[in-house]
Amino acid sequence: MVKLSWSEIKHWAWEELRQPKYWVSYAGEVIGTKAADVPSDSSAVNYDQCFIRDFVPVALVCLIKNEPLEGHPTGTVQSRQVVGNFLSVMTNLQITPDKAHLLERSPGMMPASFKVEDDHIKPDYGERAIARVTPVDSSLWWLILLRAYYKACLQDQTPMHPELFDGVEPRPKLRRAVRLILSLYLSHRFDGEPMILVPDGACMIDRRMGLNGYPLEIQTLFYAGLKAARELLRPEEPYQKRIRHRLVRLQRQISDDYWMDLPRLRTLYQAQNEQYGETHPVGSPSFIEERFFNKYNLFSQSIPFEHLINWLPDHTGYLVGNLGPSHLDTRFFAIGNLIAVLSNLTQTKQSFRIMNLIYTRRRELLGEMPMKICYPALEGQEWELVTGCDPKNKPWSYHNGGSWPVLTWMLAAAAIKAEHQGLIEQLREDILRAGQRLVMDRWPEYYDGSNGRLIGHMARRYQTWSIAGILLAQDFLDHPKYIELVHLDA
Ligand code: GLC
Repeated sequence: MVKLSWSEIKHWAWEELRQPKYWVSYAGEVIGTKAADVPSDSSAVNYDQCFIRDFVPVALVCLIKNEPLEGHPTGTVQSRQVVGNFLSVMTNLQITPDKAHLLERSPGMMPASFKVEDDHIKPDYGERAIARVTPVDSSLWWLILLRAYYKACLQDQTPMHPELFDGVEPRPKLRRAVRLILSLYLSHRFDGEPMILVPDGACMIDRRMGLNGYPLEIQTLFYAGLKAARELLRPEEPYQKRIRHRLVRLQRQISDDYWMDLPRLRTLYQAQNEQYGETHPVGSPSFIEERFFNKYNLFSQSIPFEHLINWLPDHTGYLVGNLGPSHLDTRFFAIGNLIAVLSNLTQTKQSFRIMNLIYTRRRELLGEMPMKICYPALEGQEWELVTGCDPKNKPWSYHNGGSWPVLTWMLAAAAIKAEHQGLIEQLREDILRAGQRLVMDRWPEYYDGSNGRLIGHMARRYQTWSIAGILLAQDFLDHPKYIELVHLDA
């Protein structure tokens, strides 16, 4: 069989994605894409909805291409215009203070997904989602995408959505939406600032996986979202100071406390427990803290030293998955680590080390289908206790060590950002092979097995973010300048 070339994959992915069957329309406008093309009478549950996180890579492709999409009931529409429509629809779906009581949701919140039914947009804020999980990531992804849209339009002077922008100036309505998000995410609750405390499954992993508390994915998205918001508000905006303050503390805490490498592992192995009071005297170098204090009262027995000491090569490192009182989740989670690199949360050296870990451990982390959502999988009694015996998340499947093609866009962008040439070259081969398989396998949602060789046990086909993920990764590798859309440097 003839194998598709790099450019043929790009061509076919776009031809697939631009088909009207994937797109959602409302009131004469195209406003997003379905999660997957599923038969309308199937047990598709909610894959016919437009999910906010799923639409992000599709939207980024639309921003880059800015090409006409034909065959919609409303005629031809420019792809970039669809992103503006989506952002505007989301602004209208955001919970406002006057609607909060009625819907019993916090002002500022945005839905996980929406669908158009009987000429109405029906949002889902978690009340119909599986296990009724709260979508904490939606508003953050919206901020990140809004900033990318703003940047893309500004760059080549494409007119911005008139409901959101007056020329290039965000309208009061848009600024209000951004402020509502800030007021929700910066409010004082029971959390251990600067982090935000969230329930399990509040992000891409929307099933029980031990991500309650302070999971990395939400903390890094929070950091990236704050950076995006900062660019959209005026310099004199009172929130600017709070954002600045929070960013500094978030950056310090995540890049210090979540960081794992061999020296850190050695320190933890020797750590003393039951230490009260000050963590370290103000102004003392941080190695004193490392050597003499164990802030989170972690117990050595709970950390898989044997696995990590063998698995972590020299000159590599990563951010752990979750941290709390006597709790250090040492699993590697892809999104949190890649967003940390893209948002400049990690220092330059750390970012390189994260990408170097992915490169040196590519057999495990990338396997045959880049890339694993987390590593390693939970097995045995741990799987029973943490997932609640969830068969969809059995070891090396779905969220529990499965491989998700959508992650390739973040992976390619982060490799470019960290300037890891070895990984960039490797990705050219891996993404070519992955693309060939994806076309043949009809764009599955995910792959299973410790090497990602099996099509996911319950994977949908024709999943939009699988198509967009590969296409975007190829675009980034071909034109590295496009990573500006998702690289938050300032
Ligand atoms: C699954 C995924 C979630 C995604 C949704 C639609 O629930 O876990 O992240 O948004 O499917 O594709």
